Amino acid sequence: MIVKYLDGYKKHLSIGFLSGIISSVILSFIPSIYSNIIECLITTKTDNLHEYLLLFIFYNLFCNIFASIRGCIFALYFELILNKMKKNILNNYFLKDLIYYNDKNPNDVSNFLINDIRNISDVYLQNCNVFIRDLAHFITITYILTQKSCLLYIIAISLSSIQILIEHLYSELFYKKAFEESHKLLIKQNNLITEYINKIDTYRSLNLEKIINNRWNKINDKYINLKIKDALFYAIHILITQTINEITMSLIIFIGMYLEYNTNIILLFILYRRYITDIIKDINEIRKSIVINNVSIENVNKFIKDKNDIDIFNSSYIPSNIFNPDIEIRNLTFSYDNINNVITNYNLFIENNKITGIFGRSGKGKSTILKLLLGFYLNQIKEGQILFNNVNIKFIDKTYFYEKLVSYVGQEPVLFPGSIRSNLIGDLQNYDTTLYDKLLELINDFYKDEENNDDDDDKILKLSGGQKQRMCICRAILRKPKILLLDEPTSALDIENETKILNLIKYISKTYKMTIVLISHDKSILEICDKIIEL
Ligand SMILES: Nc1ncnc2c1ncn2[C@@H]1O[C@H](COP(=O)(O)OP(=O)(O)OP(=O)(O)O)[C@@H](O)[C@H]1O
Ligand SMILES: [Mg+2]
Repeated sequence: MIVKYLDGYKKHLSIGFLSGIISSVILSFIPSIYSNIIECLITTKTDNLHEYLLLFIFYNLFCNIFASIRGCIFALYFELILNKMKKNILNNYFLKDLIYYNDKNPNDVSNFLINDIRNISDVYLQNCNVFIRDLAHFITITYILTQKSCLLYIIAISLSSIQILIEHLYSELFYKKAFEESHKLLIKQNNLITEYINKIDTYRSLNLEKIINNRWNKINDKYINLKIKDALFYAIHILITQTINEITMSLIIFIGMYLEYNTNIILLFILYRRYITDIIKDINEIRKSIVINNVSIENVNKFIKDKNDIDIFNSSYIPSNIFNPDIEIRNLTFSYDNINNVITNYNLFIENNKITGIFGRSGKGKSTILKLLLGFYLNQIKEGQILFNNVNIKFIDKTYFYEKLVSYVGQEPVLFPGSIRSNLIGDLQNYDTTLYDKLLELINDFYKDEENNDDDDDKILKLSGGQKQRMCICRAILRKPKILLLDEPTSALDIENETKILNLIKYISKTYKMTIVLISHDKSILEICDKIIEL
């Protein structure tokens, strides 16, 4: 899956891989030179010492130069590739139908994906880098050591493998589980805090901080217990690995002497033993990371290929003439969870350029109908159709639909960080200034255009519920959609503001020929409607 992200970077990455190979090959010769230096010092035959020292310095220098070229290239290009993957994921966020997010914690979706993408980039690129480097290293070391003694080489490889196997079994048995559990606990703690901050007013008004505190402490106690065990495991781990290390080293010396090899060869094997162990360790780490990161690969693949993509808007119907459609819901059966039907075999006709009111008890499905008219949850429709002048909603071009055809004001006012003006205008290139001035009348108790200050980012957070609601209505109307969908738009307003809004709705419906759907549980509000439908 990563191959498609490599385009444009392949040449640079190849240079990186090549530098890695060169530095590994050079590195492989260094212990050999080092052993000669030691031998010169021990035997006090210093004739060649200068030559060896010079070689030692040059080999190290070149090895470091190539290693730093490799490091620099990979550090940069791994980030660039990672960035490309993130961009792709971001686009996929935009494509998901709302049902995808229905039962998900937003933090989990974003955090996991960011971690998963990093894991994938690690598993493919980092491991590839390490593997190629180690392979070059291993081949060169094998060449050097087998020249000296094949038997001792096989013994050294076998002893290092046994050493890694013991270490691996220990960490699999004790470490892995504890690590996974503590990671889960940390996520739980984070979610708890996010939940509290998101709903701080309710938690505080009910004095529920104690609950948060208790839950947090419970998780923390478990975490601390795990970490205490962890520390003990770590201590034993150090003891075991260090002891095995020294035993292996002693065994090589012992076997070397038993087989009557000369000191130079034994010294060489002692110096190279660490390299061999490190290579085997790396290979084991690569194997482990492939197994662990497979979950990430599956997660991201599932996310990218998920059938809930808004691709169901799979056609690009853009009406050529002025499109002011009647809307029809025909024999519609809908369920959020594929089990319980929220709407069953439902029919509704909304005439264009009229105000249609929808009235009904709480939980009857009023907001759901509005969301379906907005093209949300279309995959969840079991039967029936939603038609705009007999064109199925699925065939209407998505950009045209949201930019030109519909605007929506939800039951909860939603504003974005930014100034009041930027919230009103959004990304509109041209807007009707007469309409804009008219809309300002609705919010002139807290906003004057000339006071506008785009840097005043947090003013929006300080608005009251009713002020926010009025802002949302103005924002939707300013876009001059053909169809305006309003879900309980006056629920947080006083009589005076409610009357102002209702008058405005009547005015824009006539003046701008808009089709308006107005949901309310309050029948008196619906008096402005041309038609009222009870659900
Ligand atoms: N995102 C969702 N996932 C699952 N079920 C949902 C979802 N949204 C609403 N429902 C369920 O669908 C039913 C209809 O909900 P809806 O919000 O459409 O009612 P409503 O008529 O707008 O109610 P109210 O007047 O209280 O706003 C309810 O039983 C609700 O529990
Ligand atoms: Mg509702």
